[in-house]
This record gives sequence, C-alpha cells and structure tokens, in this order.
Amino acid sequence: MKLERPPRREAGTLPKAPTGIEGLDQITLGGLPRGRPTLVCGGAGCGKTLLAMEFLIRGATQYGEPGAFIAFEETGEELAQNVRSLGFDLDKLVADNKISVDHIHVERNETSALPPVHADPDLISQLLLGLLGNAAEAMVAGGTIRLHASAANGVVQLHVSDSGPGVPAEIRERIFEPFFTTRSRGTGLGLAVARQIVEAHGGRIAVGAADSGGARFTLTLPAAASVLAA
Ligand SMILES: Nc1ncnc2c1ncn2[C@@H]1O[C@H](COP(=O)(O)OP(=O)(O)OP(=O)(O)O)[C@@H](O)[C@H]1O
Ligand SMILES: [Mg+2]
Repeated sequence: MKLERPPRREAGTLPKAPTGIEGLDQITLGGLPRGRPTLVCGGAGCGKTLLAMEFLIRGATQYGEPGAFIAFEETGEELAQNVRSLGFDLDKLVADNKISVDHIHVERNETSALPPVHADPDLISQLLLGLLGNAAEAMVAGGTIRLHASAANGVVQLHVSDSGPGVPAEIRERIFEPFFTTRSRGTGLGLAVARQIVEAHGGRIAVGAADSGGARFTLTLPAAASVLAA
C-alpha cells in the first residue's frame, strides 16, 4: 500500500494572531485564528489556563493587543501568582490597562428530581453557552451567574441569572430580534438563534429581572412525559 503525503497546508489562507509561544506558531502556521474563538480542551491541571494567559500576555506585551481574561475558577490574585512562575507580572499589566482580569462565580442548584426532556444536547449546550457568554460580557467587572433548574406542570425551566446591569424593560422584546445588539462588536444573532432553538423544541425563552437587578433568562421546555401524553 502506498501512503500519500497529505497536501501541504498553505500559510496565509486564514488570518492568524501570533501567540508568541515558541513552537506553537510554527505548527499552527502563524498562531491562532484571528477574530474567531479557539476552544482549548483538556482535563484539570493540563495547563489550559496557563496557555490562555501566556497567549494574552504575549499579545499585550509583544503585539500591542490588549486582552481580557474571564476566570470561572481562579481569582485574579491566584492567576497573578500562577503566571509569576512564568516570569510575568500580571498585576502591572492590569495596572497599565493592557490586560483586564474578571472573576465570575457560577452558582448552581443541584436538582436531582427533574423529569427528562427530549432535546438536542448540542443545540441546548450552544444556547446555554450563548447565555453564559452574554452574562459574562454584561458583567464588565465580574460578578455571579446563577444557574437554576426547576420543574412544574409538565415543563422544565432553566434560569440563567447574572449580577450585571440587566436588560432595560423597553428593549426586552427587541433583544431576540436578529441583528439587535447594543455591543460594538456583537452580531446580535445570539438570542435570535437561541429563540429559534427553543421554539424548535416546543419551548420558549423570556427575559426578566433577577433578584440582584441583573438579567434573568428563563428557558421553558416541555418535559418528555408531557410530549408523549399530548
Ligand atoms: N445578560 C445580559 N445582560 C444585559 N444585556 C443583555 C444580556 N444578554 C443579552 N443582552 C442584550 O441583548 C442584546 C442581544 O444579545 P445577542 O446575544 O443576541 O447579541 P450580542 O451578544 O449583542 O452579539 P453576539 O451574540 O453576536 O456577540 C445584547 O447586545 C445586549 O444588549
Ligand atoms: Mg450574544
């Protein structure tokens, strides 16, 4: 059997943001895709945080690109301590406005007695990640995201609340329209797609105010038993 070499990847076909990390820019032909998300996966302790931190710090110090780090586990002090071992002074970069570090605490209620729901797990994960992303972007100085699930009358409800500024009552319906955004770099498609996903599952999504005054998104999905009975 003759093995053929895979075709050589051409550099420059996708705009790249150099990481400045020795070796990584060589094997990725220039760095991480510019302007696109990069998902770094791996078990606890495998170095995801340090990789992301080093990318941001080198971007800020070597390539003039300020960055923001949102941590769900470590606090700002813990992060500063971790990267000190790599020779970086995170506190100084924060003081010089080159990096901003926010810590968001995620609280969730552990409910074991929820009825099953017929749903596409990838689509529902995409939707929830969009809501979490919106909450994180709204809480510019960090804060708390609360995830709460409950069930009643044949439906399961998921609530995502944050401690940000909230959604003003006058734009609460408009935020679900395609291309409605108040963010300079937003597409305004996140919630429009979220609504489509929920409605395709026979459910609905609504926004209100959380006890903290922030936004509270409620996802209502029919429980599997009520779909079968219908
Ligand atoms: N948790 C939240 N707190 C305050 N405002 C929010 C929140 N979530 C959404 N919004 C408002 O709803 C608008 C629309 O959100 P949507 O996710 O559709 O688009 P976007 O976040 O602006 O853009 P993209 O999703 O492309 O980044 C936002 O621009 C913002 O004004
Ligand atoms: Mg969004």
